[in-house]
Amino acid sequence: EKGGYKHFMHKEIHEQPRAIADTLRGRMLLSEGDVHFDTWNLSLEQVKSFTKVTILACGTSWHSGVAGKHMIESLARLPVEVELASEFRYRDPIVEKSHLVIAISQSGETADTLGAFKEAKRLGAHTLAICNVIGSAMTRESDLHILTNAGPEIGVASTKAFTTQLVTLYLLAVKLGRMRGTLSVEGAQEHLTQLAQVPKMIEDVLKCEPQVKRVAREFMNAQDFLFLGRGPMHPVALEGALKLKEISYIHAEGYAGGEMKHGPIALIDEKMPVVVIAPKHPHVAYEKIIGNIEEVRARGGKVIAVIDEDDTQADTLADHVIRIPAASALLAPVVATIPLQLLAYHVAEMRGNDVDQPRNLAKSVTVE
Ligand code: M6R
Repeated sequence: EKGGYKHFMHKEIHEQPRAIADTLRGRMLLSEGDVHFDTWNLSLEQVKSFTKVTILACGTSWHSGVAGKHMIESLARLPVEVELASEFRYRDPIVEKSHLVIAISQSGETADTLGAFKEAKRLGAHTLAICNVIGSAMTRESDLHILTNAGPEIGVASTKAFTTQLVTLYLLAVKLGRMRGTLSVEGAQEHLTQLAQVPKMIEDVLKCEPQVKRVAREFMNAQDFLFLGRGPMHPVALEGALKLKEISYIHAEGYAGGEMKHGPIALIDEKMPVVVIAPKHPHVAYEKIIGNIEEVRARGGKVIAVIDEDDTQADTLADHVIRIPAASALLAPVVATIPLQLLAYHVAEMRGNDVDQPRNLAKSVTVE
């Protein structure tokens, strides 16, 4: 059932081109420049009346929410707040009828997310669940649900659930943008054309595995890792760090590049590998992230740069480069996450860890 792979996680990483194709299937109306969700039940009037989006999630799903904020704000021009569900439900949150509250959850059963979601519903918000599991509690509790269609995810470390959430959020952002009139037909067509290329791009980026394995071998005994990214790459840095922590048990932190000078730079010495996610894009503040690479190098840190395939600048500065196909700023998180999943996987595997069942963790966290 592992299809020739040693672990489910490895199989699920390699399933991503297929999983994303399934997320997209039947939903892209290219000639109309629109998105079709068969469960959709929001009227034009409702969508136009939304004043705010609140995203509730935990762990990896929270990271996809942070990336989703960039997508929804940029395409639908709606302010988005991304909340840790476990924090939201224990304060006195501001929820209004004009708010769209989105829960993101692979399992659809995470107790904190479900609790926060029910609270938002009780306070009168319109609720939308983005889940992978059909018939799960969140899909039943919501006014509207959209499935990610990743297929069953067995590995505790989430991989294909994350990238399919990103793609679902992108589709949703296009849909909201069209309905709110912030995105033209042509604009939507451009986004959909790019989305249609993602399964092939993921196939291509998976070819970086031998290079990632070399990096994993060199740093498998490191004690700490830092992951840096800006803009839409910030949640990718957070996700890379979480993945490594979960299955390799190496301490790792994800940071927004601009924050490095406000603290974490003190950690850098010659033992510290720093993964810098630096695709060439203005939203990612490429020049600034190059500055981060220089700062790390000046302190003896080891830089592993995830860069576009045609990049010649970061190339000369980093100790190791992992090349990925160039993607638009909103899609780059999907592509750039893949090498980080592979890095965590190979480091954990080389350390002899139980990759699919990491210590102290459960696939679905149903305790509060
Ligand atoms: O099922 P959910 O998406 O609600 O789960 C949320 C988190 O528990 C989950 O993403 C967790 O962080 C994963 N183990 C990450 O790999």
